[in-house]
Amino acid sequence: MRHYTIAVIPGDGIGQEVISAGLEVLSVLSQREKDFTLQLKHFPWSSAYYKKNGFYIPEGGLDELRQVDAILFGAVGAPDVPDHISLWGLRLPICQGFDQYANVRPARVLPGITSPLREGQNIDWVVIRENTEGEYSGSGGRAHRGLPEEVATETSIFTRHGVQRIHRFAFEMANSRARKHLTLVTKSNAQRHGMVLWDEIFYEVAKDYPQIETQRILVDAVTTNMVLKTGSLDTLVASNLHADILSDLAAALSGSLGIAPTANLNPERRFPSMFEPIHGSAFDITGKGIANPIATFWTACLMLEHLGEVQAAQRLMSAIEKVTAKKLHTPDLGGEATTAIVTEAVCDLI
Ligand code: IPM
Ligand code: MG
Repeated sequence: MRHYTIAVIPGDGIGQEVISAGLEVLSVLSQREKDFTLQLKHFPWSSAYYKKNGFYIPEGGLDELRQVDAILFGAVGAPDVPDHISLWGLRLPICQGFDQYANVRPARVLPGITSPLREGQNIDWVVIRENTEGEYSGSGGRAHRGLPEEVATETSIFTRHGVQRIHRFAFEMANSRARKHLTLVTKSNAQRHGMVLWDEIFYEVAKDYPQIETQRILVDAVTTNMVLKTGSLDTLVASNLHADILSDLAAALSGSLGIAPTANLNPERRFPSMFEPIHGSAFDITGKGIANPIATFWTACLMLEHLGEVQAAQRLMSAIEKVTAKKLHTPDLGGEATTAIVTEAVCDLI
């Protein structure tokens, strides 16, 4: 019997609803598999918690979180807390503090789901996002607040170490997939320092992977390829902000933001990795019971794979695909199913 401790941080908005759906599915799955158990550790960190206490993560909180095998995260963001406060209060301290530098964002059109693109059914991409530095380094400042002379700087930081390791990770990912194809996305025509470093290091790392076919496309151009030449892409690697934007596009093109999963990985396993649906807190539909739990279920698959529970991950993914194929869809996918109906259907199939 294998035992895993999972930290559960539902956070804000529909994060609560989809994580509780995800836990239901995981519980049925571990009973079905019989050879592993998940011990859950619940963390109440959220914007409501912040409004009450003045912090998202209490003192010593990260040390406690560090003990677990994986983190299942819902969403953070609330209408009455500035987004940069909630992001820097909860999500980024975990991603950056636990060196979760590789953010993996698969996008695929699941059975029964229709891409909004006429030629989009073949979408099967993985966006690899650098997750600890770049445009999200937090470097910069503001001076002369409120005055006409006010200035603000927002500096991207790219380090050889950081860029090298994300490229290596991306090549490994490309290598693990059938197409053996990797697209480098930068903006090295306009951004002539950091992005040129990205390009240079990419081709240094590429020497170790002669079996991988590569292409370099500027970030603006790759958006048109994502829409008009879906089949020309497989694995993509991009900086923190570029991949943030591209992964939302990828999710929408593959049917809905409500199905897109993500893994924030510390590949060396010095720290726990964190798994979350991409969609965010979605206050417009919070409490209505119609949030799509598929992103969280797929996220749970990524978590199980990371833990080495490959069979369970496959069983879960195949249950998800059978449910989407049956057109049990929540409103974001044009259907009328509720979170509970989709969850029950996935549990039954497991
Ligand atoms: C994401 C989200 C976050 C990000 C938001 C909530 C700050 O958009 O995970 O893609 O930009 O990193
Ligand atoms: Mg995003």
